[in-house]
Amino acid sequence: MNTEARFDPREFRATLGTFTTGVTIITARGADGLPVGVTANSFNSVSLDPPMVLWSLARNARSLEAFQQSGHFAVHILSAGQEDLSNRFAKSGADKFTGVACSEGAGGAPLLDDCSARLQCRTSFVYEGGDHLIFVGEVVAFDRSGLPPLVFQAGRYAVATRKAASLSSGSLDAGWSEDHLPYLLGRAYFQVYFRIREHVRADGLSDDEYFILSTLAVRDGRTQAEIEAGLSHAGCDCGFQVLAGLRQRGLLRCEDGTGDLRWFLSDEGRRRTLHLIAAAKAIESEVLAGLGEWDAVALKNLLKQLVLSTDPGLPDLWSPPPAATTGAEA
Ligand SMILES: Cc1cc2nc3c(=O)[nH]c(=O)nc-3n(C[C@H](O)[C@H](O)[C@H](O)COP(=O)(O)O)c2cc1C
Repeated sequence: MNTEARFDPREFRATLGTFTTGVTIITARGADGLPVGVTANSFNSVSLDPPMVLWSLARNARSLEAFQQSGHFAVHILSAGQEDLSNRFAKSGADKFTGVACSEGAGGAPLLDDCSARLQCRTSFVYEGGDHLIFVGEVVAFDRSGLPPLVFQAGRYAVATRKAASLSSGSLDAGWSEDHLPYLLGRAYFQVYFRIREHVRADGLSDDEYFILSTLAVRDGRTQAEIEAGLSHAGCDCGFQVLAGLRQRGLLRCEDGTGDLRWFLSDEGRRRTLHLIAAAKAIESEVLAGLGEWDAVALKNLLKQLVLSTDPGLPDLWSPPPAATTGAEA
């Protein structure tokens, strides 16, 4: 336990960091007419009637005087995609507004775009708060976009997600339950892919054929070995028979490169694959809309983290070609 007598400032900072917050940028226009802005997570609501909010600014901030003199400030509650903007406004003194689109708010405070919400305030009180000054403002205008917010937790950016309702209450003694990650990933995958498969089947294709075609839609001219390297770990049969079958149906063509056959989508193959990918993207949008925008961002973020942290070194399907190759059509 840290007490007054034995107070570790780093531990105090870390303890405060356990309180999860959003991230704001507070802007104002100084008496010299220049805009100022700082990233701040000390923002909080104070009163509903009258509508009031507060935030605190370090006494050593270069913008302190401008905020004290301005009489107004604008609070921007940042959206999940505004991490770069947050970092820009967290650097002391730098020219923070260059290249940033702004309009003018109450008291001339710069208003930034694409935030989750904005509150324009008239400064009501400024209180002493140790090494900070506490600004309390009366809200004179506000708007919100519905974009999911950026979150700050334990010194790192995060995204907000809601807690899921349990699928079922049953679990076996050994902790073998619906919480098992492979089960959740597999079930979610099959439930989503199930709807895409209907379109694939209606187009007369197997799952493996669809995966091959959509891999070649990212970048064609791959050899069979390259296609296999990207897909065989998922149990996909990319053998010559399957590729030759697609060529026979006019969906693929191949060229003899430097000894290896390279496979390309035919015009017809490209047209049909893009049609299926459009259907798959429409299904994705519907599924994500069902989750809501916040959880959609959080889900993709977590899945990307999991893909990175468990990657055994699989080839990246989306990476550019190693070197250009051409050859005679087979
Ligand atoms: C997530 C985050 C939250 C911050 N919150 C505050 C805050 O509430 N108050 C503060 O004075 N500084 C805060 N800072 C640091 C300021 O953004 C930084 O010192 C500021 O850019 C100083 O600007 P200036 O010296 O140009 O006025 C925060 C930084 C980050 C990254």
